[in-house]
Formats: sequence, C-alpha cells, structure tokens
Amino acid sequence: MKLGIFGVGYVGLVTAVCFADKGHDVYIHDTAKEKIATLQSGGLPIFEEGLEPLLQQNESKLHYTHNATAVIHDCDVIFICVGTPQDTEGNADLSQVESVVEIIGKESRRDKVIIIKSTVPPGSTENMEKLAQKQNKFGNRFTLVHNPEFLRQGKAVYDFMNPSKIVIGTSDSEAQKLLCSLYKKWNAPILVTDTKSAELLKYAANSFLAMKISYINMFSQLSDKLGTNIDDVAYGMGLDPRIGSDFLNTGIGFGGSCFPKDLKALENVAAGLNIELPFISQTTTINEKQGDLFYKKIKNFCKSLQNRKVTLLGLSFKPFTEDTRSAPSLLLSQKLVQEGAIVTAYDPLVRDFPVEGVHIVSSLEAAIKDSEMVCLVTEWPEFKKLLHGDVLKLMNEPVIFDGRNMFTLEEINRASWYTPLHYESIGRPTVTSYTDNNQAANLLVKEKD
Ligand code: UGA
Repeated sequence: MKLGIFGVGYVGLVTAVCFADKGHDVYIHDTAKEKIATLQSGGLPIFEEGLEPLLQQNESKLHYTHNATAVIHDCDVIFICVGTPQDTEGNADLSQVESVVEIIGKESRRDKVIIIKSTVPPGSTENMEKLAQKQNKFGNRFTLVHNPEFLRQGKAVYDFMNPSKIVIGTSDSEAQKLLCSLYKKWNAPILVTDTKSAELLKYAANSFLAMKISYINMFSQLSDKLGTNIDDVAYGMGLDPRIGSDFLNTGIGFGGSCFPKDLKALENVAAGLNIELPFISQTTTINEKQGDLFYKKIKNFCKSLQNRKVTLLGLSFKPFTEDTRSAPSLLLSQKLVQEGAIVTAYDPLVRDFPVEGVHIVSSLEAAIKDSEMVCLVTEWPEFKKLLHGDVLKLMNEPVIFDGRNMFTLEEINRASWYTPLHYESIGRPTVTSYTDNNQAANLLVKEKD
C-alpha cells in the first residue's frame, strides 16, 4: 500500500520506518522544511534507538517530500502524526491536525481514509471528519479513524514493532477492514472501538501511568519523613501482579511531551463537562511538588547557592532521548542559576538547552571536575561510573543529590569507605560522612590523597 505520513516527530518517523519495514511504500511530509531536508540528505532529525539502521535498510521504500499535495494524490491512506501541544489554557492545540485535515480535504480527488495517530481529546476525530468533508469540492468521502500510539520515546521502534495492543477507533466497517489488514503482520491483540472511546483510552492509559508515578512519589515524601526505603516498598508492591512493578520508580518527577500536557488537557475536557477528576489534578500537583522537594533538599544542605559549583547530570526528560520538553532539569536549573550557582551540565545526547547560564560540557569527567555538588536528574546508565575508582575524587566536595535513586544505598555505603561523601536521594535515608567535624575529616582525607 502507499501510505502518507504527515509529521516527522517521534511517532511519525517511527511509524513511517516501521511500515516501510513491513513492505509498504511510505511518503513523508512535514511543514518543517529542515526536517525533510535532513532526511533527504541521509540524516535523522531525531534520535531514537534502532531507527537509523531500520531506515537505512528500507531506504528505497521511504520518500521524503516538501510537496503535501503529491502525498495526498499518491497515497491510499494518510496518517496524521503532527504535534498536539498544550495551548495557553492547557487544552490540546489541534491547529496542526486541522491544517493537515484541511489540505487533505481540499486537495483530495478521491475517497480517503485518514488516520489520526496524534493524541487528541474525545470528539476530535469526529470533528475532523466534518472539517475534511466541508473542504472538499469533489464529492469525495473521507473516513477519519483514530489509531492511538502507545510507544515510549527512547524505545519507540521496539514499542511500535511489539505493541501490547493495537487500538482502532472507527465505526466504519471498510476502514476497520483496511486498518486490520495494515496491521496484520503485527502479533498483538486488535481492539476495535468507536473513535471517541479510542481517544479516551489513550488519555486514560497515559494518566494511569502518570498516576502510578505520582502515587509512589507521594509515598516517597512519607518515606523521607519516616526514614524508610521507598525502593524496597516499591519493589515489594510491584511483586504483586495486580499492581505490577512498571512505573513505580520514584524520582524528581515525570516530564516529556506527553504526560504533563495530556493530564492538563484531560482535566480541561472534564471541566467542560462539569466533572472533576481529582486523581488527575493530584497527579500533577504531586509531580510538581516532587521537583520542589528535591530543590529544597539541595538548599537545606548548602544554605546559600551563591557561587557554588553545581553539576547537573542528565538534562533530557528520561534516558535514551535528547528531548528536554517539560524535563525536570529545566525548572531545577532555572532555580539554581537564579540563586547564583555556577551550573555545569552533562547529558550524553542533549547539546541545546534553553536555560541561560547552564554551561554544557561533553563528558561526565569534565562536568564533575572541581564540582561541589552533583545533581543526578536523568538516570543515564553512563552515570553509574560516578562511583567508579577515582571519578568521585575529581569533585571538590563529593556531594550527590540523586533525583532518580540511581544507586543503591549499599553502593553508596561502599563508596563512602573510600571517599567520605554526602548522598541524598528520594524517599530514602541520607548517607553522610559529614558529622559536626565533617569538614576536618574531609580535609584530612584530601591531604592524605
Ligand atoms: C508516554 C507513555 O509511556 C507512552 O505509552 C505514550 O505512547 C507516550 O507517553 C505518548 O503519549 O506519546 P514517554 O512520554 O515517551 O511515553 O515516556 P515514559 O517512559 O512514559 O516516561 C515519562 C516520564 O515519566 C519520564 O520523565 C520518566 O522519567 C518518568 N517516569 C517513568 C518515572 O518518573 N518513573 C517511572 O517509573 C517511569
């Protein structure tokens, strides 16, 4: 089949490459001309594990174009994978979806199945079908389908190829048959439902996952006060298959381009229907508080941040992506800079960071050299080497604030036999070699070194 893809983000490009890998010819368009140019010249506008080799293997089936009309004329089926960011009121901004639907409606010379993969509030797909129909002067029939995507950034190719389910939102039997045949090479249950239920399902799934994170983070706040170990609590909870261990990792809070904006959009949808969604609003509140509490720990420890050399390890909202949208590193670094700290950061992938005053370096060693304090914000596996051999000794003061509980307390205790250190994490007791006489002890070790 000839498939058209509008939108070259994580969802669009991964969808394109994976469908090409299953044998389809795929035509790709994006209004961002530089993204198409990058693809045409053999580059990738995003980083996603496993994407590059799969793209190269399927090069002959992937066509990148600036010409939206050509995609519309040539393709049997069109996927809309453009962004639906948050508008100023917190609603999902559907303007990019609308633009694509309008142009398909105007330019199409035959009936068309248009599949919305972007996350859109319940009712949007129905509205978009009316919009497409309104534009068309040729009497064509447009069937709009919602086919939500559940892939995670960083694991997008794997998730697309190995989904837990495929959701097809349409009441049209022809479109249903077409979508089922498109996905016949996937080994996953297919759920067919109406468009609105498919739209709601996506929001319900994302908010449940976010709620699970905030739930364990709420307990981490309690655990901090009780002096208990939240990781043991989460591990024990997760062993119960009714609860499950996924998304029970406590931390500085969730970020990314999906959870924060989806929760807000869902709340707004409900508010419009005079319904309150307390779980959803609390999930956001707890998440925001989690970042504040982490910052307070730092502040409590060092009192003044003026001219303190602080290192951020990790800027992306999670490992294996260069994406910093709504990343906890944004607010944290802003606060540190405002308080006068000298902030250096290292992230294996992030090179552009929007917070002024953050000096980005290209290795962990360069980032921690002479630093007085490390804040672990993203759990990149590479950061595990912080405790290796002499790495910690590069720091001026071995003080670590671990926003992702990357290290077990045993690992920290062992490291502290060799290098006196101060370690604070989330929902677990502090490990410190700093007593009232700590400075003396610390200096002694340094002299010995
Ligand atoms: C999320 C969903 O997991 C996908 O199923 C969905 O398709 C996607 O949104 C979307 O709507 O497009 P994503 O935002 O890529 O995927 O990332 P996640 O892996 O879900 O992580 C989101 C945030 O939660 C990250 O900041 C991560 O660090 C945090 N997190 C995750 C935790 O703090 N604890 C956990 O246990 C898991």
